[in-house]
Amino acid sequence: MSDAKILLGGNEYELPTITGSEGEVGIEIRSLRKVSGAVTLDEGYGNTGSCKSAITFIDGEQGILRYRGYPIEEVAEQCTFVEVCYLLIYGMLPSADELASFSESLTRHTLLHEDMKKFFEGYSPSAHPMAILSSMVASLSTYYPESTDANLDLNILRLLAKAKTIAAFSYKKSIGQPFIYPRNDLTYTQNFLHMMFANPAEPYEVPEVFDHALRLLLILHADHEQNCSTSTVRMVGSSEADLFASISAGINALSGPLHGGANQKVMEMLRRIRADGSNYKKYVEMAKDKDSDFRLMGFGHRVYKNFDPRARILKAAANRVLEELHLDDSLLDIARALEEVALQDEYFVERKLYPNVDFYSGFLYRAMGIPTDMFTVMFALGRLPGWIAHWKEMREDPKARIHRPRQIYIGEAARSIPPRDKR
Ligand code: SDX
Repeated sequence: MSDAKILLGGNEYELPTITGSEGEVGIEIRSLRKVSGAVTLDEGYGNTGSCKSAITFIDGEQGILRYRGYPIEEVAEQCTFVEVCYLLIYGMLPSADELASFSESLTRHTLLHEDMKKFFEGYSPSAHPMAILSSMVASLSTYYPESTDANLDLNILRLLAKAKTIAAFSYKKSIGQPFIYPRNDLTYTQNFLHMMFANPAEPYEVPEVFDHALRLLLILHADHEQNCSTSTVRMVGSSEADLFASISAGINALSGPLHGGANQKVMEMLRRIRADGSNYKKYVEMAKDKDSDFRLMGFGHRVYKNFDPRARILKAAANRVLEELHLDDSLLDIARALEEVALQDEYFVERKLYPNVDFYSGFLYRAMGIPTDMFTVMFALGRLPGWIAHWKEMREDPKARIHRPRQIYIGEAARSIPPRDKR
């Protein structure tokens, strides 16, 4: 693609362009301020590329999502979550030996240091598990203080393995049950469900239907380009903060209701509609009313202007699992009705608002018995390999710089401080 030309203040400036492997074009503006004195302004970064990345590709218009070139539909069908972790972080699917070694290492690092259990005693019983997860992940660096760059592969294993233990322990803490230790004979997903739902009073066998549903959920959440939390991980990591601190920041960014917190808000919204006589059409109208701050949670996306392919897969999986478990979830009926009305309504059609990954994921979590306030923690466990992959990609880029955006100042002009008696 030829250079871009901009006319500014009667001058013409040529800026180089870059064309990605899927044909998307970027204008490189690194020299813009130096040559023209101007910066760009793109509040919310809706049109700004923060980096070049080889991890994930999304075509929002076509509803395409690929991990390292593999379509999400094939990855969701044919891979385990541990294989997806390896693929995203190391760039290729593991061989049988590589997978066996990676899985074995993850198993060996699943236990938390016994002293870290004491942290849980300090949290209030009602502490949100996302707050616990972000602080416990940050605290991992107090137990593994050596630079995460020097021991990167080891710390990646520690983080992937221990995050699910922290999540399960936070659940056990919230229901006043004893922590359940991991078992080395279980897979990654089986171990998480075991630590969540086993209890010392009776034997527990991980239901296969839950194991399959969890595998799918974690894979579908594993990465998604430069979303808010992943960009946060890159921003924090760009200062050479360690892996644990950077991922903890990503967890906090994900907790917001406009991002990963939406899956919890979808369920709360559906419960509110059910309590209001299941009058879902009233809420579609509220979502369109600019004077109402109500939004249809689980709908809309900055990038997807078509169906989120993950929502499509999760909708089918929710139907399948609820049918297999003979569960009748009245909230799912409301969700389906909401989707049907919204997809035909001019307001949503005009703005290309479709269900996103958060709209159906909660039904699978509910079917497994995972409480609503753990939904975003589940999103974080899925997104962990993506965050790690982006942190590693940025840190291994010899040209990586600390992220330091510019601004357009709109405050007061220079002025002097008046004497106290004149303030
Ligand atoms: C995730 O980035 C990622 O990849 C994120 C994610 C990932 O995997 O990491 O995909 C995960 O975060 C999914 C999104 C989860 N959030 C929600 O479901 C919350 C509800 N959705 C919205 O708040 C909103 O759609 C966002 C936050 C998802 C996107 O916001 P944008 O891109 O800033 O869009 P916008 O707010 O500028 O909306 C454009 C228009 C506005 O109307 P107009 O000003 O043009 O009249 O669409 C309207 C908005 O009011 N709109 C909605 C709406 N979403 C957008 N109106 C009603 N209900 C909604 N859900």
